[in-house]
Amino acid sequence: MSRSAHPAGPRHADVLPEGHYSAPPVDLNALDPKVWAKSVSRGEDGAITVAGVRASELAEAHGTPAYVLDEADFRARCRAWREAFGADADVFYAGKAFLSRAVVRWLAEEGLNVDVCSGGELATALAGGMPPERIALHGNNKSVAEITRAVEAGVGRIVIDSFQEIERVAAVARRHGVRQRVQIRVTVGVEAHTHEFIATAHEDQKFGLGLADGSAAEAARRVLRHGEDLELIGLHSHIGSQIFDLAGFEVSARRVVGLLSAIRDEHGVELPEIDLGGGLGIAYTSDDDPREPHEIGKSLAEIVAKECEAAGLGLPRLSVEPGRAIVGPGAFTLYEVGTVKPLSGLRTYVSVDGGMSDNIRTALYDAEYTAVLASRTSAAPPMLARVVGKHCESGDIVVRDAYLPADVAPGDLLAVPATGAYCRSMASNYNHTPRPPVIAVADGVAREIVRRETEEDLLRLDLG
Ligand code: LLP
Repeated sequence: MSRSAHPAGPRHADVLPEGHYSAPPVDLNALDPKVWAKSVSRGEDGAITVAGVRASELAEAHGTPAYVLDEADFRARCRAWREAFGADADVFYAGKAFLSRAVVRWLAEEGLNVDVCSGGELATALAGGMPPERIALHGNNKSVAEITRAVEAGVGRIVIDSFQEIERVAAVARRHGVRQRVQIRVTVGVEAHTHEFIATAHEDQKFGLGLADGSAAEAARRVLRHGEDLELIGLHSHIGSQIFDLAGFEVSARRVVGLLSAIRDEHGVELPEIDLGGGLGIAYTSDDDPREPHEIGKSLAEIVAKECEAAGLGLPRLSVEPGRAIVGPGAFTLYEVGTVKPLSGLRTYVSVDGGMSDNIRTALYDAEYTAVLASRTSAAPPMLARVVGKHCESGDIVVRDAYLPADVAPGDLLAVPATGAYCRSMASNYNHTPRPPVIAVADGVAREIVRRETEEDLLRLDLG
């Protein structure tokens, strides 16, 4: 299993055992298309270009660190998901991976819906012009204020996560005189991460209503009793993140259809929709082999069709919620090297002008990334480096083990690919660091879609 995909928590050993590293890449200047956005290549002067714009121009115009997002890559992945699932399914982009008004516009234009899990994400989806009926609201502890805003806006679905929420959503819907469309989030007893999945005993978590202990079936009873205020449109399941093995989705699909069938038997109601969540993995390094949207589309459609036929159910409308697989591969983070510290016999620490405030995933999940020189090529031999940030914490690591050319020097630009998902959206102001901008590039034109935060922005929150 690639370590990039392992969300098991931080590793504390500073020096990895002998032989743990993979061999250095043959060509340190190469850009593996697996991990780079579709419009990225090296220009004649060796600098990275994205959609025809040189990384060094981006750094000059917008500063570093910066997230650089290839709009064509994002749109192409949206289309691949739409095509993989076809007209009888809905693709909800998971806004938690990264959301901005521009992204919402692209999603709306490409025919995707959006799933939001907070009032802030809901506000962004609405401000970006997503029609409310194409928005789903998630969350295990939505506030009454969030539920109220969603109902008032007319969102297409609220995914119910607890018994208490059934009463809350019903009360808000009643007050507003609407019949709110809802799904029930079912904890199907499958947990999947990376290449592995486990199909027992993973109901021990905060999300959803358990299948095994009857909570999900009881929730369906209660929602159906609120029939005047709530319209139960279907069941929802999300089994994990960064998944490469489709077997977990298949077990989940089977179990969700099993509950559809039990609900039909008990209530005589065939729920018209099922949502199988997000979680499809992407390549963070060349060792990762993600599955393509059409593979997951085909596999899920087949399983659902087969299970429904066996249960004598009509085919429900299917939906999925990819986040990382749409926005992750299309962006890279551009940094400037500030200091280089060789440690004889160990490694060289290369410090960049960002760090755990713009990418917490390495520290939090032991995620693996790669890095390349972005402002030039180099013929220098490979050097084992650790790319670290500028924060006051020794765990402030961006890339734990990176092979970089041995002549990397202060002033060089470094680019870390596959940072589109869960980097800007999980960014922090640690050490009072303003968060980097997001620059969208398309057809030779770069535009900040999220501007860089400033120290004034931060001081404005400080009331003295
Ligand atoms: N739907 C639901 C209900 C979810 O909870 C999630 C992710 C998704 C869809 C989208 O999953 P995706 O396709 O993006 O994997 N911060 C972590 C990931 C947390 C994911 C939480 N839920 C990371 O950086 O890896």
